[in-house]
Amino acid sequence: MEMEGVIRMKKEYTGEILYQEKMYEGCYRMVIKTDEDLLRTSQPGQFVHVKINQTGDPLLRRPFSIHRIDLAQGTISLLYAVVGKGTTIMALDLPGKKVGILGPLGTGFSLPDTKPHHVVLIGGGLGAAPLLFTAERLVEKDIQTTVILGYADKHRAMLEGDFKRLGVKTYISTEDGSVGNKGYPTEVLEEMISSEKIDAVLTCGPEIMMHKVAIICEYAGVNAWVSLEEKMACGVGACLGCVVRIRDEAGSHYEKACKEGPVFKASEVIFHEN
Ligand SMILES: Cc1cc2nc3c(=O)[nH]c(=O)nc-3n(C[C@H](O)[C@H](O)[C@H](O)COP(=O)(O)OP(=O)(O)OC[C@H]3O[C@@H](n4cnc5c(N)ncnc54)[C@H](O)[C@@H]3O)c2cc1C
Ligand code: FES
Repeated sequence: MEMEGVIRMKKEYTGEILYQEKMYEGCYRMVIKTDEDLLRTSQPGQFVHVKINQTGDPLLRRPFSIHRIDLAQGTISLLYAVVGKGTTIMALDLPGKKVGILGPLGTGFSLPDTKPHHVVLIGGGLGAAPLLFTAERLVEKDIQTTVILGYADKHRAMLEGDFKRLGVKTYISTEDGSVGNKGYPTEVLEEMISSEKIDAVLTCGPEIMMHKVAIICEYAGVNAWVSLEEKMACGVGACLGCVVRIRDEAGSHYEKACKEGPVFKASEVIFHEN
């Protein structure tokens, strides 16, 4: 099927930027007023594909995790870092600007069938973005939730207040020790997993961190899910630009990060460094 045809089958919504919050230099939280249908159908771990300018420049949409859904305010929030052309334009966007939002896309976090008692979320840097929405949904379901957030330093350490407001036990670690534990979030997980009962671990962040989480959880016999960040063009399963290798009985096969993912069972992912 033609790529445009597949895109047309997905719902495109119009959003209006309400405001942007500067988290630190080069990182912003964009709050967008949009259609209730998009807000109600979004699940944690899914993403939206954003058309930044109606002029068609940049041509390709940009994928962003759903950071927050606020049904009462009618808003969706994105948390993003400025890395290239598209995000540079976004950072300059003013309230009132219209953006196109395709979504919700992909397969988000799923939890074990039986009600888990304790779920641990691990975010590295911008990987914390989808975990706030995830934590909100877990808390709504009355599931004990702990979050471990890892950052380079105190200037980039964000979202502690947002998670604490939900009543979620929150650990921060920084590589230079300028705030929280000194080291990586995986070190906090290693300690926790040996002393507490954990039913599931959900993680998003640099691949090297998620791979480490996968190894720790495999060794401890805890189910884990990772949210992969592959380069995406169409975002809807038509271009095969985002395939990842998934382990199976015959060896491996490819799945599309934008459709079957971005969330995969950690034990099934063949990470790039392998
Ligand atoms: C499922 C998913 C969720 C994401 N969620 C977030 C998020 O919550 N916050 C955040 O800051 N970033 C997130 N990203 C990464 C974000 O999409 C890129 O940083 C962004 O597309 C860069 O656009 P740019 O025009 O500024 O950069 P450029 O480098 O100029 O982009 C050029 C092209 O490469 C693509 N591209 C570049 N980097 C990435 C990347 N890391 N992943 C995918 N495509 C990329 C762009 O879409 C574009 O087509 C996510 C990526 C994926 C796949
Ligand atoms: S981005 Fe086109 S198939 Fe995934």
